[in-house]
Order: sequence, then structure tokens, then C-alpha cells
Amino acid sequence: MKVWVIGASGLIGSRCAAAFAQAGHRVTGTRRQALPGPWRPLDLLDGPVVREAIRLEQPDLVLLAAALTNVDYAEGHRQEVFDVNVTGTGYVAEACRSVGARLVYFSSDYVFNGRGGPYAEDDPPDPINVYGASKLAGEEQIVQLLPDAHLIVRTTVVYDWHPGGRNFVMQLVEQLRRGQVMRVPRDQLGSPTWAPDIGRALVALCRAHASGIFHVVGPERLNRYDFARAVAAGLGLNEELIDPVATAKLAQAAARPLSAGMSHSRLNAVLQEPMTPVRDSVAAIRRCMEAQA
Ligand SMILES: NC(=O)c1ccc[n+]([C@@H]2O[C@H](COP(=O)([O-])OP(=O)(O)OC[C@H]3O[C@@H](n4cnc5c(N)ncnc54)[C@H](OP(=O)(O)O)[C@@H]3O)[C@@H](O)[C@H]2O)c1
Repeated sequence: MKVWVIGASGLIGSRCAAAFAQAGHRVTGTRRQALPGPWRPLDLLDGPVVREAIRLEQPDLVLLAAALTNVDYAEGHRQEVFDVNVTGTGYVAEACRSVGARLVYFSSDYVFNGRGGPYAEDDPPDPINVYGASKLAGEEQIVQLLPDAHLIVRTTVVYDWHPGGRNFVMQLVEQLRRGQVMRVPRDQLGSPTWAPDIGRALVALCRAHASGIFHVVGPERLNRYDFARAVAAGLGLNEELIDPVATAKLAQAAARPLSAGMSHSRLNAVLQEPMTPVRDSVAAIRRCMEAQA
């Protein structure tokens, strides 16, 4: 199968590209910036370029892992975020329709209000910040434009060893290694998800011809502070530098869903091997970290 990954330089896109390549598929990909490396530049905001690129690629499957993902930045930049995450998504969906490709769209538990997690796929969305609203509007575009050829993968708190990346684990490692205190919310419940598991799960879902919405999340529901402590302990970093605080104390621009996280029973019915617990994924991250020390 020909797989085209839009956002292949990102945390999720890169792990999905690797998983499909390892499963024997032909993988090409794009990123926003023109930088050295295997991925071609493509801006989601340029509809005609998106259409022409897909016409040349003729993929069987498109993974849309590109988005504007900075939740606090999104709050003050609604138009820009909707342009990328909704209008851009629409361009990709229309382009997929024109060549008969299936589309996987990555979404988030931020489509929910965080008053009743863990959430199942059929629970009613109710986003409480701009980023979440844009992800939900992106989902709606996909369903409308590709009613029979889409898979929506909702995930959350995605982490891995990703030098140069800004995922929560990389931020924690950076600050704790410098001996700096990191304030971490103790009242945000979520389902930390190891990025390589998303790639593996997606290959299994596509093999099973899954469609509709699937929650692809790690097996544990933890508050962010307990997650941070587990990561620090597993990586041999100083846990005492992690300062538990209430989310409200962080005065972030975007509201956060507090009781979030998602259930994974629909996913588990398809996966042969369950998603990896935090302890095991952190052991794998430690090996990467030590290899690069
Ligand atoms: N990470 C999470 O915890 C999480 C949780 C739930 C859902 N998601 C969703 O999963 C998807 C991937 O997230 P991620 O964390 O892997 O993202 P990421 O690491 O921030 O990577 C974003 C990717 O999108 C590309 N990109 C950004 N703006 C673009 C534009 N205007 N046109 C084309 N490409 C653009 C980036 O290219 P450059 O590298 O060249 O800038 C990069 O390849 C997103 O849809 C996100 O909403 C992520």
C-alpha cells in the first residue's frame, strides 16, 4: 500500500511513518518547513498545492498528522488555528476524495469538556478551548467530505524520546536535567500514550479496515503529576524537582479539560498486543536517552 504522511516530521507522524514502513508499506511524507531530510515541504494552507501533490502521489492511504498543536498559542489566534486545522483539513479531505484515498485524521480528548472522563468514542464532544474546537471542526469536515473513507484517531498526552520536540516528557527531561523545578498539574487526569504505540495500533486498525472513531491511548489513566513522577523515576531524574500544583495556578491561556483521558475498549478489540504501560515505555525511552548521552 502507498501511504502518504502529512506532518511526517512531527511526533505522531514520524512514528506512524516508521510503523507503516516496517510493516512493508511504501511511505512518503511531508512537513511544513523546507529542511534537509526525507520529507517534502507542503503547507496545508495552500489548497491547490495540496491537490496537486496528492495527484502526483496517488496514495492509497493518507495520514493527516499535521496541525497547529500549541494549545495556549491557539487561544489568541483562533483564525490562524481554524485556517490550518479546519480549512487545511478540508483541502486534504477533498484531495483524498479526488484520488479515492482513505484518510486517517488525528484528533484529541480536547474535544471533550473534561467533566466526565474517561471518554468513550460515542460520548458527546464539548470543547472548552480553541484548539479543541478546531479539532472537533476538523473531525466534522472529514465525516462530511469522506463519509465512507475515514478513520478518526483520538489520542492524548503523547510522549516519546524526540530530541528537539516539545512533548511533555522532553520538557520534563530538559528541566530536571538542568536542576530546575517543574510545576506540574496534579488535577489533570489523562491517558498518557507512547507515540510508537500509535503507529503500531494504526497499522493494526488499517489492516482490520477500521473506520469511524477510535480512541488510541495508553492503558493507564493518571494525573499529570503522577505521570511526571513515574517518568522521572524511570529515567533516574530527581523527582523532588517536580512541584504539584492546581491547574488554575498555572494561569495558562487555554482552559484544560481536567477529568479527561479516554477509554480504549474499542481499540483493544482490534489490537493483538495491548498498548504499553508507562513503566515499560519509559524503560525504552531511557535506553534512547542513554544511547545519545
Ligand atoms: N501530541 C499530542 O499529545 C497529541 C494529542 C492529541 C492529538 N494530537 C494530534 O495529532 C496530530 C499530530 O500531533 P503531533 O504532536 O505529532 O504534532 P507536532 O509534533 O507538533 O508536529 C506537527 C507536524 O505538522 C506539520 N505542520 C504544522 N503546521 C503545518 C502546516 N500549516 N502545513 C503543513 N504541515 C504543518 C509540522 O511540520 P514542521 O515540523 O516542518 O513544522 C509537523 O510535521 C495533530 O493533529 C494533533 O492535533 C496530538
